Amino acid sequence: MHILSSVLTLPEALSTPVGAEVYRGLTSTPKSLAPWLFYDDAGSRLFEEITRLPEYYLTRTERGILARYADEILECAGYRPVTIIELGAGTAAKTGLLLRAAVDRQGAVDYMPIDVSRSALAAAKEHIEADIPGVRVAARIADYTKGIGEIPAPGTRRMVLYIGSSIGNFEPEDAIKVLCEVRQRLAPGDLLLLGVDHVKDRRTLLRAYNDAAGVTEAFNKNMLVRMNRELGASFNPRLFRHRAIWNADYSRMEIYLKSLITQRVNIPALDLEVQFAEGESIHTENSYKFTAESISSIVECAGFSITQSWTDECEWFGVYLAVRK
Ligand code: TRP
Repeated sequence: MHILSSVLTLPEALSTPVGAEVYRGLTSTPKSLAPWLFYDDAGSRLFEEITRLPEYYLTRTERGILARYADEILECAGYRPVTIIELGAGTAAKTGLLLRAAVDRQGAVDYMPIDVSRSALAAAKEHIEADIPGVRVAARIADYTKGIGEIPAPGTRRMVLYIGSSIGNFEPEDAIKVLCEVRQRLAPGDLLLLGVDHVKDRRTLLRAYNDAAGVTEAFNKNMLVRMNRELGASFNPRLFRHRAIWNADYSRMEIYLKSLITQRVNIPALDLEVQFAEGESIHTENSYKFTAESISSIVECAGFSITQSWTDECEWFGVYLAVRK
C-alpha cells in the first residue's frame, strides 16, 4: 500500500519526454541536456536565424556546394532514376536544389522527407510542390534515429540525403548506428549523400558558435526558458553564460550553459531542486567536425563507401556521396 501510494504520487511530468530528459540530465554528474530540447517553436525560429548569421558559415557554404554541383551529384546516380529520401528534412530549405536537378534529368521525382515535426513537413511539402512541378512529396513523420521504415522505390535507385552536418551532433558510435539502420532499408547500389562540416581553424569555428549579435546565446538559453515555461522552473537566464569551446582532441565543438554563481533552481513539475556550483556547466551539445578520412571511416563502418565528394573554395564544408555495399 505504501509503495502503491508513492508510485501514484510520482510527478506526472516525469512520464513526458521533456520531463524525463530534464530529470535525467540535471540529476546526472556532470549535468547535461539533450540537444533535441533546443527545438521548440521559439528554438526552431532561433535556429533559422542562426543559419542566416554572417559567422555561421555552415548553411550557406553547403547551399553553395549544392547549387554548384547538384547536376553533377545527380549524374552520379547513373542511368537509373532516383527516389530521394531525406533524414531530418525540416522545412527542406536546401533540398530544392537537388530536387530540381532530379526533375531536369528524369522528368519527375518521388521525394520522401522524414522528420519528427509535422509542421516543418507541411511547410516543406507546400513550398516544394509550389516551386518545383514534377516532385511528388510523400512526407513521413518519424524519428529517423529509431529507424526509417521501408522505402518502396520500384525501378529506381534510392538516394538518402543526410545534409546540414546533423551527423556531427551524434557521438561517432551513434552516428554509425544511425547509418547502419539506414543501410538495412537500402539495396546494394543505393546512395547516401552526406553534408558534413570540416575541421578548420579554431577562430572560424569559435566565431560560428559565438556570434556577435547573441543569437546563439539566445538559442542555447532557450532551453532554460523552455524549462521555465513547460515545467514551471525558476531559471534566471541572466545567471547563466553561453559557452562554446573547441575540443581539438575530440574534433568537436562543445556547447555549455555555465552557472555564473552558486544557485538553486526549482523545478516544481518534477518535484526537484537543482543545485549549481559557481562555474558549473550544463552540457547541451557536441558538434563534431570531420576530415575526409574521419567521415570515410564512419561511413565504411556502416557498410557504405564514398565514391565522390564536393567542397567549397575554402574546403570548409564537404558533401560526400557514398554507395551502399
Ligand atoms: N546542429 C547545429 C550545429 O552543430 C546546431 C547549432 C548551431 C547549435 N549553433 C548552435 C547548437 C549553438 C548549440 C549551440 O552546428
